[in-house]
Amino acid sequence: MHSMLSLAESEDLVEQYALDVTADERLPDRQVYFRDNYRAWEQAYLPVVCEYVEDRLPGRALDCGPGWGTMSVWLAAHGWNVTAMDMMPLGTFMTERQCRECGISYIRAQIEDAPLPGAQFDLALLTQVLGHLKWNPLRTLRNLRSMLAPGGEAIVSALNTPEERWPEFSYSHWRDVPTRDSGADPDPAMNVCAYTTQSLRELLGEVFSPAATHLLQEGGVTVALCRV
Ligand SMILES: C[S@@+](CC[C@H](N)C(=O)[O-])C[C@H]1O[C@@H](n2cnc3c(N)ncnc32)[C@H](O)[C@@H]1O
Repeated sequence: MHSMLSLAESEDLVEQYALDVTADERLPDRQVYFRDNYRAWEQAYLPVVCEYVEDRLPGRALDCGPGWGTMSVWLAAHGWNVTAMDMMPLGTFMTERQCRECGISYIRAQIEDAPLPGAQFDLALLTQVLGHLKWNPLRTLRNLRSMLAPGGEAIVSALNTPEERWPEFSYSHWRDVPTRDSGADPDPAMNVCAYTTQSLRELLGEVFSPAATHLLQEGGVTVALCRV
């Protein structure tokens, strides 16, 4: 277990773990991708998340869609009991060694599916996942909320993508994305739905009390802090 890593140290450690990854060969040089693309995105908004969480007493945290796991590692180093949940098998991004050394539980599951039985997390992260969801995100957000303990908090972030700048998204508003129950096939796009600060606020308002939701802007990303 690594004690009290700074965010930069957490990123360095995750870069080392990324060397272990062999399960998915789609990216020819995953280290380069991690360093040049992914890490740059992380550095835009994760400091906001860390700053917010730093004041909290550590408890049970769910990192939903952890990617390479920078926040999972950082949270574990700050005393949180971390569960990482991702639709991809362990070894696609996070590694078995990473989870073992940092004391992180990894669950392979779709967030659209039923919540973990009896889950009572104090903190749930859903950072940079919404735009990739293949079906309408309402069910995902409801699942996330239902896994929070009373007084628990969710941190949800999404790129702020005004429609005209981001033609590659299939949908420009989450209300238009089909629900899974409709029987629609999963959208094949990598980026399914674009969000603006306003549409993210509307989505969160369907699930969390607007009065208990705060939105911050950082580096083209909207970070929302929602309390149950
Ligand atoms: C862009 S990465 C975000 C990584 C990290 N949270 C961050 O802030 O940098 C998206 C992650 O969400 C996962 N993901 C996408 N859709 C998911 C779903 N329906 N259920 C669970 N995980 C999902 C992907 O496998 C990937 O790990």
